[in-house]
Amino acid sequence: MDKPRSTDRLPDLRAAAADATFRLFRLQTDLYNRFSLPVISTARPFSFYRKAFFDNRSERAVLDELQGKVILDIGCGFTPYMPDSMFQACRRAGIDFYGVDPKLGQKPRFNLIDTVARWSTNLRAPMDPNAPGDAWRIGAMADNLPFADGAVDLILSSWLLEVWLSDPDILASIYREFARVLKPGGQARLMPQPKLTPGTRGRAFDDALQAFDVHQKPLPVGSPNLFPPAYLTILTRRS
Ligand SMILES: C[S@@+](CC[C@H](N)C(=O)[O-])C[C@H]1O[C@@H](n2cnc3c(N)ncnc32)[C@H](O)[C@@H]1O
Repeated sequence: MDKPRSTDRLPDLRAAAADATFRLFRLQTDLYNRFSLPVISTARPFSFYRKAFFDNRSERAVLDELQGKVILDIGCGFTPYMPDSMFQACRRAGIDFYGVDPKLGQKPRFNLIDTVARWSTNLRAPMDPNAPGDAWRIGAMADNLPFADGAVDLILSSWLLEVWLSDPDILASIYREFARVLKPGGQARLMPQPKLTPGTRGRAFDDALQAFDVHQKPLPVGSPNLFPPAYLTILTRRS
């Protein structure tokens, strides 16, 4: 048998590193739950979204690609209040880009934790509580989206699924909801994610993913609070 080349082992190493990343996330969420701390709502600029979800293509290229499409950012936090967010760039370009988060739908109040969280995501510009776009800020949970069947072209979600929400049954109900609102061929792009191995997360989880073609690729290397060792998951809605 051929001796394995060193590059053959890279996917294993990446999966192991991602596994360690998610062990740390679980410790963090356990701590939060134990002390009933509130989920931190961060905010991220368009440059982050381009790198995470669009292969670092230019703003112009991404906006051109999304013209006429309906996009949801699930668990967007306070990103829609950032002047340099993808939310605001799409709004200016006339694209239906909705920010979805249970904390939206009411006048935002940014506390000290939010400010620290914003700094940790490399944002220096202040969040603007009067930022335009109320109609595109939706106060809702990921498993109960106020959108019609097959109405959505693209779902993006960063730092929620598998990080703050990791119960496989809850994730299954969210993926069923994604399958309901996405058009055939539409995609959900999710990060950061662990390696998804069928047969390890229970029947409901595997069944929910049956509605999709599942593809995973390693995230670009970056600082751990932006791009930890983990994967981008792309779920493409089957016809
Ligand atoms: C850590 S923040 C991530 C914010 C942003 N996406 C980012 O990458 O910085 C997690 C967000 O998910 C929201 N969230 C928690 N549970 C949710 C749920 N079931 N459905 C939708 N959003 C949820 C929280 O309110 C919080 O704003």
